[in-house]
Amino acid sequence: MVNQSPSRSNSSRSNPAHSDPSVSDEIMELLIRFVTVWRVELVLVALPTALGIWLYVRLGPVAAGVITATAVLAVVVPPPSRRLLGRILHRGSVRRHLDVAFSSLAGVLHDRPPIIGTVVRTHGGDRVQLGLRHGTSIEELERAGAIIASSLGVRSVAMAVDPAHQNLVTLTIIRRDPFASTGLRCPMVNAKGFDASEPIPVGVDEEGEIVHLSLAEHNVLFGGEPGGGKSVALSVLVAAFALDPGVALWLFDGKLVELAPWSGCAERFVGPDITLAISVLQELRTEMDHRYSELMARKVKKVSPGGGLGLHVVVIDELALYVAGVDKKQADRFAELLRDLVARGRAAGIIVVAATQKPSIDIVPSVLRDLFGFRWALRCATREASDTVLGSGWSSRGFSAADIAPGMRGVGLLLHEGGVPVRLRSFHLTDTDVGAIAERAYRLRSGDPTAARTPEP
Ligand SMILES: Nc1ncnc2c1ncn2[C@@H]1O[C@H](COP(=O)(O)OP(=O)(O)O)[C@@H](O)[C@H]1O
Ligand SMILES: [Mg+2]
Repeated sequence: MVNQSPSRSNSSRSNPAHSDPSVSDEIMELLIRFVTVWRVELVLVALPTALGIWLYVRLGPVAAGVITATAVLAVVVPPPSRRLLGRILHRGSVRRHLDVAFSSLAGVLHDRPPIIGTVVRTHGGDRVQLGLRHGTSIEELERAGAIIASSLGVRSVAMAVDPAHQNLVTLTIIRRDPFASTGLRCPMVNAKGFDASEPIPVGVDEEGEIVHLSLAEHNVLFGGEPGGGKSVALSVLVAAFALDPGVALWLFDGKLVELAPWSGCAERFVGPDITLAISVLQELRTEMDHRYSELMARKVKKVSPGGGLGLHVVVIDELALYVAGVDKKQADRFAELLRDLVARGRAAGIIVVAATQKPSIDIVPSVLRDLFGFRWALRCATREASDTVLGSGWSSRGFSAADIAPGMRGVGLLLHEGGVPVRLRSFHLTDTDVGAIAERAYRLRSGDPTAARTPEP
C-alpha cells in the first residue's frame, strides 16, 4: 500500500568513513533527490517532449509543433482530464512539501523519515498514509506535529496510528476548518418518513462525507462536557426514529426540556422522576421477556426487519440524574434494570441510546457502561475524560475529544463500525427543525395527515 521513496542519505553524518564525500557524489545525490522529488512533473513534461522530438525527426518542425500542441490541448482542455492532471500535480506537491517538512525535523525522524504513501485530497485538506521506519514511533511524529504543520504552511495536522499496524499512520493535513461550515442540512429536516432499519445520517466527517450510524443491534453512549452538543446529536437520532411509525420511543429526560418536543411521538415520556423511570424500565423489561417468549415460539434467535416486531428505542438524556441520583437504592435499581436491557435487549429489538457528561465509574457503573458497543465523545475537558467515553487507550493513539476546540460545538469522535473513531460534526437541528420534524412524525404515527399534535403537558 505504501510506496517506498528513497531514504534520505545521511551517511556523511553518521559514518566517519564517508565524512568527506567527493563533489561528484554530492552532485549525484542532489540529482537523485531532484528526480525523486519532481518525478511526477518530470514525467508530465517528458511525455510531450519525447513525442515532439520523435515527430520532429519523422515529420519535420511544423507537423511536430502542430501535432504535439494539439495532443497537449486535447489532454489539458477537457474538464475530466484537466481535473485528473490537477489531482496528480496536487499529490506531487503534497509529497514534495512533506519531504521538505520531514527533512527539517531533528533527530531520528530526520535520519529515518516516514515513507510517504497514498495521498488523497479531502474536503478540508489531504489525507496521507505514512509508513514509519524501524526505530521510529508515532510519539516522535506527534511531537513534531507543529513543525510539520508550519513547514507545510497549513492550519494543523492530525495523526492516527492503525491499531493493527503500529508502523502505519494516517496523517490528516487540515488546510481549512472542515467543520467551520458543513453546508449540509440534516436530511431529516425534509424527510417525509424514515426506515429505522437503515443507517441513520448523523453528521459530516472531516472530508465532508455524511457519516451514517447503523443502530440495529447496537447501543450508543454519548459523553462530553456540558454544551458540547450531546443533546443536539441525540435529537438527530430521535428524529430518525420518530419518523418511522414502526418504532416505539421510550424517552427519559433528566432535564425534561431536551426531549419534551418528541413527547407526542413517544410510547412513554419520563422526566426527572426516578420512581416513574424505574416503573417504565420494568414495563420495558416485561416487554423484552414477552419478545423472547415470542421469538422462542417462532424458533428464531432475534427480531429482524419485516418480522412484525418493531424496534423499541430507549433514549436517555442526562443519564447521571437517574443512575447517580440522591436516593442510592433507587439509582442502583434503575442502573440494574438498564443494565439488563442493554445486555439482553439487542436480539429482542430494544436499542438504548444514552447521554451523560462523564461516564466515569463513580457515576455510571462499569458493568453498565462497558455494555455500550458504540461510543460518541463530544468535547471533553481532559484526555482521561475522553478515554472514559471512548474506552481507555484511544487518546494515546491520537483520538482524544479533549483536542476539540471549546467553540466547536457538535464536533466529536464516534467509535462505531470500523473500530477506529471518526471525527465528525453532528447535524445541527434547531428548535424550529425539531418542532417541524416532531409535528410531521406525529402525523405519520397518527395516520392522519391533518392531525395536530396534542400540546405538551
Ligand atoms: N452540530 C452542531 N452544530 C452547531 N452547533 C451545535 C451543534 N451541536 C450543538 N450545538 C450548539 O451547542 C449548544 C449546546 O448543545 P447541547 O446539545 O445542548 O449540549 P450538551 O447536551 O452536550 O450540553 C446548542 O444549543 C447549539 O447551539
Ligand atoms: Mg444536554
